[in-house]
Amino acid sequence: MIDIHCHIIFGVDDGPSTIKDSVRMILEAEKIGVDKIIVTPHYNKSIYSSDKVVENFYKVKSRIRDFGIDIFLGYEVFLISSINEVFLQREQYTLNKSKYLLFELPFDILPININETVLKLHSEGIVPIIAHPERNMYYVRNMQKFIELIETGCLVQVDAASIVGIHGSNVKKFTKKLIDLKVVQFVASDAHKPEDYEIYKKSYDIVKNWAGKEYTDKIFTHNQKVIITPPSAEIISKE
Ligand SMILES: [Fe+2]
Repeated sequence: MIDIHCHIIFGVDDGPSTIKDSVRMILEAEKIGVDKIIVTPHYNKSIYSSDKVVENFYKVKSRIRDFGIDIFLGYEVFLISSINEVFLQREQYTLNKSKYLLFELPFDILPININETVLKLHSEGIVPIIAHPERNMYYVRNMQKFIELIETGCLVQVDAASIVGIHGSNVKKFTKKLIDLKVVQFVASDAHKPEDYEIYKKSYDIVKNWAGKEYTDKIFTHNQKVIITPPSAEIISKE
């Protein structure tokens, strides 16, 4: 499996605070069969400073160089406050310097002009991936509004914890509906601590029961490969 959304870099957000804990998380990921990870610290200027991200990323990368797992750098961008930086320095914020940008929204409201923002990203050659839309209560209550968002060209990443049911039954139901509709391109751990990788493993087995092995492998591994190895002629199909 390839994880494209997790908080593993110590001392930069609400993930681990020491390098030892970063390494523990990576060992847990390796144990369940993850061999590549794009680490995605929060990029949200009003809450976290990203000054140490690159430095701490390379400290962790060098610590794990003899492991059977590798890490790459990306961000989980809080789109509302950070859109201008993304347009000015896109390679700094996209996943592993690809054209794919992982962004998150507030949990309770729908930002105005979100569909227009997605279209603007596209016009700049950036492909937006929405992180855990199933945790946005506006979309959970308005599936049609969410379908309108993805029709603008937004790819979809859901969290393992939502599949397992940790965020409640409404979130789980909404997540299953997205998987049934096959509008999900990625499942990620969104791990903040080592135990979250056990949940990621569980979510794989649940999705396999819901949707079969072929689609499950596509959204846990194959689509992610396109991001890890840019530039690529391969295009992530929306179906
Ligand atoms: Fe996250």
